[in-house]
Amino acid sequence: MSKRGRFITLEGVDGAGKSTHAGWLVEAIRAAGHTVLATREPGGTPIGEKLRELVLHEPMRLQTETLIMFAARCEHLHTVIEPALERGAWVVCDRFTDATYAYQGGGRELGAAPVAALEAWIDAPQPDRTWLFDVPLEVARARLACSRDPDRFEREDGIFFERVRAAYHARAQAHCRRVHVVDGSQPLAVVRARLEAELAELLAGAA
Ligand code: TMP
Repeated sequence: MSKRGRFITLEGVDGAGKSTHAGWLVEAIRAAGHTVLATREPGGTPIGEKLRELVLHEPMRLQTETLIMFAARCEHLHTVIEPALERGAWVVCDRFTDATYAYQGGGRELGAAPVAALEAWIDAPQPDRTWLFDVPLEVARARLACSRDPDRFEREDGIFFERVRAAYHARAQAHCRRVHVVDGSQPLAVVRARLEAELAELLAGAA
């Protein structure tokens, strides 16, 4: 049986630049000889992508929003992510449960307890490494202003994103071995060099 793959997640407020680095990261892991699955949440399965459309665009209650995030995650985790890791593939996932702690728990002020309960119920694991892309809110907001068709989250105000960012920082503090904060306002080459160094450790099995 092949060795279990590693589970990497990318997080950050909208506009923090995580997607800019996702493609490079996937290619770097592939170049090191691993099979890589690049995926995202909410989404990553046919059901998950339908739920994504709903949750990003339809007005709904906070509880409904949170349950949809976890419904999509449950399908994704158990039908795609876990089987891939079992086959030995590495999984790079654009957002995972930390996003629910940050957006619903922090941004929407639901608190962490319901998120933790749902996380346990669907048996969601902690990723092996999470890179949290962090930028000052003005930078994130300026990047978002260029987005032509903002979704329900992107349309939120600055105070919402302050809360999301604070909740992400709290996650990083509470899980400091797993969640590494990357200053996304640095030049691209600097961010990439940092990721490259950390990825080398992961590839060597040292981290
Ligand atoms: P994306 O634009 O990075 O693909 O993410 C879609 C939006 O969904 C983003 O604004 C964050 C939000 N989101 C949550 O609110 N809770 C979650 O659990 C996840 C995965 C995403």
